[in-house]
Amino acid sequence: MTTRLILGKDVSEEIYAELRQRIEALKAKGVTPGLAVVLVGEDPASQVYVRKKGEMCESLGMHSVTVRMPAETTQEQLMAKVAELNADPAIHGFLVQLPLPKHLDEEQVINAISPSKDVDCFHPENVGRMLIGEPTFLPATPAGVQQMLIRSGVETKGKHVVVVGRSNIVGKPMAAMMVQKGAGADSTVTVVHSRTQNLPEITRQADILIVAIGKPRFVTADMVKEGAVVIDVGTNRIEDPTRSSGSRLVGDVDFDAVKDKTSAITPVPGGVGPMTICMLMANAVKAAEKASGRDSE
Ligand code: GUN
Repeated sequence: MTTRLILGKDVSEEIYAELRQRIEALKAKGVTPGLAVVLVGEDPASQVYVRKKGEMCESLGMHSVTVRMPAETTQEQLMAKVAELNADPAIHGFLVQLPLPKHLDEEQVINAISPSKDVDCFHPENVGRMLIGEPTFLPATPAGVQQMLIRSGVETKGKHVVVVGRSNIVGKPMAAMMVQKGAGADSTVTVVHSRTQNLPEITRQADILIVAIGKPRFVTADMVKEGAVVIDVGTNRIEDPTRSSGSRLVGDVDFDAVKDKTSAITPVPGGVGPMTICMLMANAVKAAEKASGRDSE
C-alpha cells in the first residue's frame, strides 16, 4: 500500500500562520500574549525544550519569560515563583517544566498554578473540564495529534482509535479527547498498556493507532491492520555507532516495517514532535484572548 506521511512541520506551519494573525489582532488591542516557562535545575532535555519554547515565542512576537532556578531550589521558593506568575498581568500563561528535581513535590506545584494560566492543562480542574467537554486548554501533545488528524483529512467519526499507553500527559487525555463529541473526535476508543492481555489482537483492530508507550519500535508490522493510520508519539534515543553523535531518535513504532501497511503514518523525527510546542503557543494565545475579553471558543 502506498502510504502518506503526516508531517508536524507542515501542520504546525499552518497553525502558526493562524496564530500570527490572532497575535496581531491582540497587539492591535494593546495586548501582547505572554508565556513564561520555569526551569528548575539543569536536565539537558528540559534545557533544549525550554530554549525552543522561548525561541518560538519570540519568533511569533509574543512576550517570553524564561525563569531559571537552581537545582537546589526549595519547595517554598518554587511555590513563591508560581504565586508571582499567577499574579503577573503580563503573563497570560505559564508552565513549570517537568520533571522537577526529586526533592520537589510536582503535584503541589501543579495544583498551585492558576487554572486560567495553566497552558499545559495539567491542573486537575482543567483535566476535569477537558474530560467533560467544557471549554478549557487542551494538553499540547494530544491536541497536536488531533490537529494532525483533522488537518490531514483523516476521518475519526465512528472509527476505532486504539491508544497505546496510559500516561497522564498523552495516553489518558488522548483517549478522553477522541471519545468526545465533535470534529476530529466522535471515535470508538480503546486504551491498551503494558499490562494489557492480547495487545496485538487489539491494536490490529485499530483504524487509527496512536502510540505513546515510550518503548523504541514497540509496534511491529503484525500489530497493524492493512490501511490503518498510525500516529507515533514516541521519541526514544537509541545507540547508533554509524552516527557521529553515536545515537539517533526512533519512535515507538517500527517505521520501516510498518509504513507499507498504513494509509498514513507519522515519522520520527518530523512527525508529532513539532506539534507540542505549536499547541502550547496556541494555548498561550487563547489565554491572552480570554484575558483580553475576546474568547476564542
Ligand atoms: N516535560 C516534558 N513535556 C512537558 C510538557 O509538555 N510540559 C511540562 N511542563 N513539562 C514537560
